[in-house]
Amino acid sequence: MTCFCFCSRRNRDSLTAHTAAAEAAAIEEISKIPNVRLYSYEELRKATENFRFENKLGQGGFGSVYKGRLRNGTLAAIKVLSMDSSQGTREFLAEINVITVINHDNLVKLHGYCVEGQHRILVYPYLENGSLDKMLFGRGRGNIQFNWQTRCKICIGIAQGLTFLHEEVQPHVVHRDIKASNILLDKDLTAKISDFGLARLLPSHMTHVSTCIAGTEGYLAPEYAIRGQATRRTDIYSFGVLLLEIVCGRYNINKRLPAEEPYLLEMVWKHHETGQLLELVDISLHGDFEAEEACRYLKVGLLCTQDMPNLRPSMSTVVKMLTGDIDITDQTISKPGMLSEFMLRKDVLGKKAEPNSKLTSTTEDLGKQSESTSSSGFMDTSYGTITFNSIFDRSN
Ligand SMILES: Nc1ncnc2c1ncn2[C@@H]1O[C@H](COP(=O)(O)OP(=O)(O)OP(=O)(O)O)[C@@H](O)[C@H]1O
Ligand SMILES: [Mg+2]
Repeated sequence: MTCFCFCSRRNRDSLTAHTAAAEAAAIEEISKIPNVRLYSYEELRKATENFRFENKLGQGGFGSVYKGRLRNGTLAAIKVLSMDSSQGTREFLAEINVITVINHDNLVKLHGYCVEGQHRILVYPYLENGSLDKMLFGRGRGNIQFNWQTRCKICIGIAQGLTFLHEEVQPHVVHRDIKASNILLDKDLTAKISDFGLARLLPSHMTHVSTCIAGTEGYLAPEYAIRGQATRRTDIYSFGVLLLEIVCGRYNINKRLPAEEPYLLEMVWKHHETGQLLELVDISLHGDFEAEEACRYLKVGLLCTQDMPNLRPSMSTVVKMLTGDIDITDQTISKPGMLSEFMLRKDVLGKKAEPNSKLTSTTEDLGKQSESTSSSGFMDTSYGTITFNSIFDRSN
């Protein structure tokens, strides 16, 4: 017995030493990547004035985001991951490694990170105009700058960012949580996709079936919510929902609206069938938009949200459709896949769902009961889990 304790302690010590060495090696490797800094906790604590409440920009499923001023004077958005979401240091560093090599105008760039004891912190550039949900549904609503041309630029920017993740990064990246709050706007209102924490890269032998679903209600493709399959097609579905939100200027789910109207996707489909799509364009534009273009954007949204994943266009095709380089006038559009029909109305989730709840569940849980926490306003909290496994996507 004594001998067993002695051996297991020695093994444990050597394992700890081995892990520490591996972590140090991983930090060393990441520190070689240009333009990504390793920050000390102390520096980030000072930058945010001890994580002062007044400096808090918001809170998401993975922790709180603070505005902070770094030692060199630049403003940063400092995302403090909650303890629950912090995984092993090596997994965290592996994820950082993935994020840092991805570089595109329409993707938020990671400035640096902090990994110290239990602390896991990501440092991003501070983007002046905040997130798209605030512009669309919050105080920025009706803002003169948020006119039709700006909306088009934002939609195309998001589509280009996603095209890069889906088709240009090798191996491809599935974002998994495309939604209005994950689109940030810089001072010129250029759209930047944020939060690659959920992005996973699937290994070739793993097909496209993931072990964990993480996303936000209303943006989830039915096949992802039901079977836990995250593919580029499920991202395209979420993009389609977001596109409809931008054109119509409303959340995809709003239970305060009269019957028939809470589900945007359902409404757009009905208006498409009756040839009245233009009625849905955001009234705050006061009719100041290009009718043909708005109609095209809504149709692209419907194409992206078709029930059959294989019918959804690729993101590079979406870009061409939005810019008018591909004509979609005669394109047949099939009925959208609406999760509301399966899950929300029939209450499969086990509790009443609220707009833009965050859903997290293992595939084991699916079909039994999914966890859903409510988040009805843009400053509300949503909860999620984060797994820093890097998986490579070779799905369609
Ligand atoms: N780089 C940034 N610049 C400016 N504001 C930011 C930045 N990053 C995040 N924010 C603000 O902080 C808020 C919280 O972001 P966070 O990603 O934690 O939550 P979320 O996007 O609502 O949910 P999720 O956890 O699902 O991503 C955002 O809504 C945004 O307004
Ligand atoms: Mg976010």
